[in-house]
Amino acid sequence: MKVAVLGAAGGIGQALSLLLKTQLPAGSELALYDVAPVVPGVAVDLSHIPTDVKVAGFGKDDLAQALTGCDIVLIPAGVPRKPGMDRSDLFNINAGIVRNLVEAIADNAPEACIGIITNPVNTTVAIAAEALKAKGVYNKNKLFGVTTLDVIRAETFVAELKGLSATNVHVPVIGGHSGTTILPLLSQVKGVELTDEEVASLTTRIQNAGTEVVEAKAGGGSATLSMGQAAARFCLSLVAAMKGDNVVEYTYVETNSDDAEFFSHPVRLGPNGVEEILPYGELSAFEQNAKDAMLEGLRGDIKLGQDFVNN
Ligand SMILES: NC(=O)c1ccc[n+]([C@@H]2O[C@H](COP(=O)([O-])OP(=O)(O)OC[C@H]3O[C@@H](n4cnc5c(N)ncnc54)[C@H](O)[C@@H]3O)[C@@H](O)[C@H]2O)c1
Repeated sequence: MKVAVLGAAGGIGQALSLLLKTQLPAGSELALYDVAPVVPGVAVDLSHIPTDVKVAGFGKDDLAQALTGCDIVLIPAGVPRKPGMDRSDLFNINAGIVRNLVEAIADNAPEACIGIITNPVNTTVAIAAEALKAKGVYNKNKLFGVTTLDVIRAETFVAELKGLSATNVHVPVIGGHSGTTILPLLSQVKGVELTDEEVASLTTRIQNAGTEVVEAKAGGGSATLSMGQAAARFCLSLVAAMKGDNVVEYTYVETNSDDAEFFSHPVRLGPNGVEEILPYGELSAFEQNAKDAMLEGLRGDIKLGQDFVNN
């Protein structure tokens, strides 16, 4: 298994690379790419950890080499939010970065599964899809927006509120990955009773959790450590599925459903990426209203990405 992290010297990239160095199966290769000159140093640093995962660093002129032979490519490259910004404010810078990196994946690792972490995910995934289509190598089963952070946050907050162990709480989160497009399905959490007030306040907290971190870091960036953990969980699930395990993750994929062209669903993963898009089940009246209210915004985010590549 070869995994590349593009943007590996950043806050997310370094946390994610550390977790992959210690948790990928023995015999795996980890390719760390970044335009920042520190990236070879990050690779050397990680290489001193005694695991059977081979790690190599690649600087800005070595992207093709980093990508060649990859099974999975994770993209956290780009700029993070500062206080007062929402995820869409990142569009102008991050859109071009994602398009260029995905074009290089199309040229050098067209069969790889791609996990997009760079925000705004609602839009950058659509950019990636259009860039891959333009290169004639788009496979909707191999392109994912990584929304796992919304799931782990939701599980943490529900467990905290109810005094439960976070490892036993499972919260489905569907939709997109910004503001009200993030839709936790709290009505489906097993073994937990929530009042209407608790559902309303938890939903708002889960939707704004990224801003909690941005404000607490006071200009120093956005979530990196929890995001590193979330991306590692997603990547390790994909690795396990590629090896034949039965794994389901919530992730933002092309569904072409009545909701939107891209939507986070529970997805059964397999050796070729998406094995099956599973239904997200029945919604409560609160969730149905929240979904109806956000769909137009989500569709607009997707169209913005499509237009960025095509116009
Ligand atoms: N999906 C999510 O849930 C989620 C959560 C948090 C943050 N994010 C997003 O992840 C991205 C990265 O956040 P961060 O905190 O790690 O930022 P960061 O600034 O710490 O790191 C970004 C890294 O990307 C590198 N980079 C920039 N342009 C590049 C290019 N063309 N090729 C390769 N590398 C390049 C930079 O050199 C830097 O090392 C941001 O867009 C942020 O909004 C997503």
